[in-house]
Amino acid sequence: MAFPKNFLWGGATAANQYEGGFNEDGKGLACADLITNGTHSTPRKITEYIEDNYLYPSHEATDFYHHYKEDIRLFAECGFKAFRFSINWTRIYPLGIEAEPNEKGLQFYDEVIEELSQYQIEPVVTIAHFDIPAYLSEKYDGWSSRELIDLYVKYCSTIFTRYKGKVKYWLTFNEINTATLNIGNFLSLGIHTGACDFINQPEDLQKRYCALHHQFVASAKAVELGHSIDENFQIGCMISYMPRYPYTCKPEDVLLAKQEENMHSKFCGDVQVKGEYPYYAWNYFEKNGIQIDITEEDKQILAKGCVDFYAFSYYLTLCCSHDKSVDKNGHSMIGGSGVNNPYLEQSKWNMMIDPVGLRIALNDLYDRYQIPLMIVENGIGAHDNLEENGEIHDPYRIEYLRKHIEQMEKAIEDGVDLIGYTIWGCVDLVSASTGEMAKRYGIIHVDKYDDGTGDLQRRKKDSFYWYKNVIASNGLELS
Ligand code: BG6
Repeated sequence: MAFPKNFLWGGATAANQYEGGFNEDGKGLACADLITNGTHSTPRKITEYIEDNYLYPSHEATDFYHHYKEDIRLFAECGFKAFRFSINWTRIYPLGIEAEPNEKGLQFYDEVIEELSQYQIEPVVTIAHFDIPAYLSEKYDGWSSRELIDLYVKYCSTIFTRYKGKVKYWLTFNEINTATLNIGNFLSLGIHTGACDFINQPEDLQKRYCALHHQFVASAKAVELGHSIDENFQIGCMISYMPRYPYTCKPEDVLLAKQEENMHSKFCGDVQVKGEYPYYAWNYFEKNGIQIDITEEDKQILAKGCVDFYAFSYYLTLCCSHDKSVDKNGHSMIGGSGVNNPYLEQSKWNMMIDPVGLRIALNDLYDRYQIPLMIVENGIGAHDNLEENGEIHDPYRIEYLRKHIEQMEKAIEDGVDLIGYTIWGCVDLVSASTGEMAKRYGIIHVDKYDDGTGDLQRRKKDSFYWYKNVIASNGLELS
């Protein structure tokens, strides 16, 4: 049997896309609450304040805030061993600067964690999943200011102390390498952009990489602090990992793929696992006129705050080509020279579907870091059809997940230490890139639509029953 006995099968979500209740019980406004809905072809917008004529999908999302008991019961019915969710920073510190936390916010997560423990479901908690207090964006220009380091560490201290002995697995920043993309400006770094399109925000590489440096320092401080609060804590990084293939075997394409993979997919993990900046980053910074103020103290903090495990999301791979005439990939979140792979199919939202790429990624990552790996996001966004009898048949989702799990099994046989797998958006939620409901990932359907309508009823899709069987057989039965 390839999968270890205690393998963490489960699902993953994020507060800003799932929780709703955006202004309830003292919660503050987050940057994510200022991003409107959009579609695959119409970009979301960032607004300065909440405007009446826009729909903001995070405000209600799919309402975990009022459905958590029902949802966790469904996760338990499916056999989940783990559930990844994020704590919303603005529920705990509404502005980010308060001396005391918001007790009602903490109570909500007390209840969620308690509910999970009743079903022996292991919480995997993301501390910051695109949920920066909007006040910190306005006052400090987000993570471009060093002030945010201590504010974040204070927030960590509050939740670490509160959930000590109850939560073991923590992730410091969701997809921290989103900061290397233009789209990361506001969502991931809280850099104050003013009103603009979510795609193609004002570009300032210098600011972006400094802000990312501050997140590295904050993450390392959180790791050290967490271990001092509870020595059983396992604190991980979380990287959006997209392998890059050369489009041809021309050495120039091979080199380009390596360079892009380094700076997009490897850089952040290298800092967080190895505790120092990798050599190739300095060259990139010099070529792009980026100067980062890394103090001696920062260096020591990074070296002391290495993560315990490497968590990552995996959706797709890309090819890199020097040839400008090759089809550029149309996925809205990806920068760089990414082009389509002629050997692969793509989803309706231009994700190149590549299960074997997951085995390659797992081997590469384990070879590089030699620490446990956890896949904390994987899945396919697709249109689902709710039939009149309430059934949802989603064979495409089953096929996608099955093929990826088969490759995980092979990677474990290769010798990779893979400890868990939480499928993304296990229950339907709002898409981060497009703000749509139409792009569904869930094995549980939620009656909620792009125009904000829907009664929020939960229904099990065919993939729910399939995944239940996968978990019950510990990955043996995939058909
Ligand atoms: C990751 C994020 O980028 O991918 C999630 O961590 C996001 O927040 C997921 O939802 C899927 O992307 P999208 O744009 O299809 O929602």
